[in-house]
Amino acid sequence: MNHSVTNPLDRARDLVDAADRIVVFTGAGMSAESGIATFRDALTGMWENHDPMVLASPDGWDADRDMVWAWYRERAAQVRSTEPNAGHLAIARLADEKAVGGGSVQVVTQNVDDLHERAGSTVDAHLHGGLFAPRCEACDRPEPPDVALVAPRPDCPVCGASIRPGVVWFGEMLPATDWQRADEATRTCDLMLVVGTSGVVYPAAELPERAYRAGTPIIEVNPDVSALTRLATVPLVGSAAELLPALAER
Ligand code: APR
Repeated sequence: MNHSVTNPLDRARDLVDAADRIVVFTGAGMSAESGIATFRDALTGMWENHDPMVLASPDGWDADRDMVWAWYRERAAQVRSTEPNAGHLAIARLADEKAVGGGSVQVVTQNVDDLHERAGSTVDAHLHGGLFAPRCEACDRPEPPDVALVAPRPDCPVCGASIRPGVVWFGEMLPATDWQRADEATRTCDLMLVVGTSGVVYPAAELPERAYRAGTPIIEVNPDVSALTRLATVPLVGSAAELLPALAER
């Protein structure tokens, strides 16, 4: 075999070995092997005749708070019934290994589940908010994570307005501190892993593009081609739970 041509996984492993400050940018595909449907597949069962663009929007909320709350509560309950997959665990392990050598692994996710955290990762940015970050729609007071599972829809104990899901709806601004942390991490990293995202939703998808323009090597993990594959130094074709453990093992 011609040893000068290493296979993509070996090239990716070399990049991971050489990196000190890794950013892992994840999307819905990261949680697929935990059994969590991607955003567009979530509309099964009783929700199949609802439009996600309506349910996940300020107008949808204003039109029917009880229905939108029930949909997010069901998604939160589904997340609680699943487990982090081998991919989530591999990212947490890689962070521990890099920390020993003074390096870092920062997680920037578009996902609203808490599987990275439950696998042991610290999440630097939840760009689209989180299922377990309910808050008052009027006074913005944050509620404990488990309030996301309460039925019927609860009211704010302080001002009496409605508690709303903690996710970012279409048309809403991303949380400023999460965006700033994600942008800073992207600017200072020396390797970006892009895992399980179609790369079509902005401004989140702008982050890999900024890494690319800065000349930062990018490894993509995705069974399909995405809008970000064109930016990848090493595109790895496969799933998060299969490839991330292979990338992380030292
Ligand atoms: N491992 C890795 N990637 C996977 C896997 C897997 N097991 N299964 C699917 N994928 C890939 C798909 O090929 C696709 O490219 O994950 C990607 C999922 O794309 P989307 O469903 O568009 O999810 P995402 O990119 O996270 O969407 C971004 O849009 O729906 C809104 O706000 C929502 O945060 C979400 C944002």
